[in-house]
Amino acid sequence: MENAAKQAEEQAQGGRMKAELGGVVVLDFGGQYTQLIARRIREQQVFSAVLPCTTSIEEIRKLEPAGIILSGGPSSVYDPEAPKCDPQVLALSIPVLGICYGMQWITRTLGGTVEKAERREYGRAQLRIDDSKANGASDLFTGVAASLRVWNSHGDHVRTLPEGFRTIGRTENAIAAVENSARKIYAVEFHPEVKHTEQGTELLRNFLFRVCKAKPKWSGAAFIEQSTAAIREKVGNKWAICGLSGGVDSTVAAVLVHRAMGTRLTNIFVNTGMLRKNEFEQTLEMLRDRLKLHVIGVDASERFLARLKGVTDPEEKRKRIGREFIAVFAEEAQKLQAGKAHGEIGYLVQGTLYPDVIESVSVKGPSATIKTHHNVGGLPEKMPFALVEPLRDLFKDEVRRIGKELGLPEEILVKHPFPGPGLAVRLLGEITSPHLVTLQEADAIVVEEIRRAGLYDKVWQAFAVLLPVRSVGVMGDGRTYGLTVAVRVVESDDAMTADWVRLPGEVLERISTRIVNEVIGVTRIVYDISSKPPSTIEWE
Ligand code: XMP
Repeated sequence: MENAAKQAEEQAQGGRMKAELGGVVVLDFGGQYTQLIARRIREQQVFSAVLPCTTSIEEIRKLEPAGIILSGGPSSVYDPEAPKCDPQVLALSIPVLGICYGMQWITRTLGGTVEKAERREYGRAQLRIDDSKANGASDLFTGVAASLRVWNSHGDHVRTLPEGFRTIGRTENAIAAVENSARKIYAVEFHPEVKHTEQGTELLRNFLFRVCKAKPKWSGAAFIEQSTAAIREKVGNKWAICGLSGGVDSTVAAVLVHRAMGTRLTNIFVNTGMLRKNEFEQTLEMLRDRLKLHVIGVDASERFLARLKGVTDPEEKRKRIGREFIAVFAEEAQKLQAGKAHGEIGYLVQGTLYPDVIESVSVKGPSATIKTHHNVGGLPEKMPFALVEPLRDLFKDEVRRIGKELGLPEEILVKHPFPGPGLAVRLLGEITSPHLVTLQEADAIVVEEIRRAGLYDKVWQAFAVLLPVRSVGVMGDGRTYGLTVAVRVVESDDAMTADWVRLPGEVLERISTRIVNEVIGVTRIVYDISSKPPSTIEWE
């Protein structure tokens, strides 16, 4: 709980920084598309931050947002446990747009009625905009066609409107859009943030620019300027360490914080023994020589392996790795502080992104925990440092844009994501040294062949997974009984959803032949053809 409160506070701080530039606050009722709403707003160069629906009215007011969006959510407004905002959000004289559950919550709160729909509306529906002369056109639908296909996902719908509201759009089964233009409160039952909704972007733009008069000031450069200022304010005269892995997220975070704090930041790159082949040496060199970052390389592979001995449960692996990381950071911090010229280290910098947060944290109502990402939920409750996570509101492609703006080399910007717990979540069952080497060799072949086929920059991730499953094979004249390697190659925009890549047969063939020939102990290769959802990208 302590962590959840801290996270809400950190999110609010992120939001403050952005809202100062005329941004929009998205209050989260636990909708699966909440983060998409924030992203669509940033695509319009307007600052946006997602905050839990329980954020206090004072906190929201302090942010001085140009507008507030109330997200969708899985609950029914009549559930006793249904998530709620402070009703005062509707009385701040700040424009509000409710989406799906947000619309139902507004309706119920202001005295209208919501009821269970006879038929659940899921998927596409046809929206007719009510722009009859007597009704007058709504700002929300300026420049939008009179009839559009929209994306729905709701079981309840609005039955009667609160006083002062009028219907501005309908689908066959429901009142689909309403407004009270005098109070600048708008609501839609469908999801304008989802690509399947025609002209959804137009509608959001109308809300942002016509209704809220938001300022399109969000850009990579503005983000860098704002977040360096916010970091300086947050850390004061304390010092910080950064858990650096050489991946795009932590490297962008390190360069950003380095800009804010200069030499008061020391980066620590830990070899957990679960990195990819040759990764520790190569990455250290690149970070030090090309990026000129101050990095301490710590080879902790033995102790990580010892900590994981006998452990097979995926969540337990993640938690132990998370704890061990913190132990290493704490020890290194102590050593640094023992040095004469060093000040007190109060902060740990991490390259946490929004998808890491949403899959690890479950605010009451909002999205259920899927797995504990090591740079978020895998951290112990009590830590000797406070966290600095400047990328916490962003998606990977946004971070890549910031990285480009910061002048990071292309090779880092296009690098595939690699999970904090490393190969541990790609080696099923107990982690042992020989199996790690087997997996590193197989993985290196997958990546090499994907590069050779010119596909590395086109796919989201490509890697090998080692399965503790033995099967019978034949090599030469002898029987073999070796391990299985699964090859996983996926495409994705943001890791929230992913599809397996239809690799050309020749590429699959080369990967398979090379692994069985070059990696001792592996006799069978399988290709993973599952999408996310229902599978996740990593196997554990
Ligand atoms: P899943 O397996 O949840 O992965 O579909 C989504 C994306 O996140 C990466 N991933 C992690 N990244 N720490 C990280 O920094 C973690 O603990 C972690 N687990 C998964 C994964 O590689 C994919 O890109």
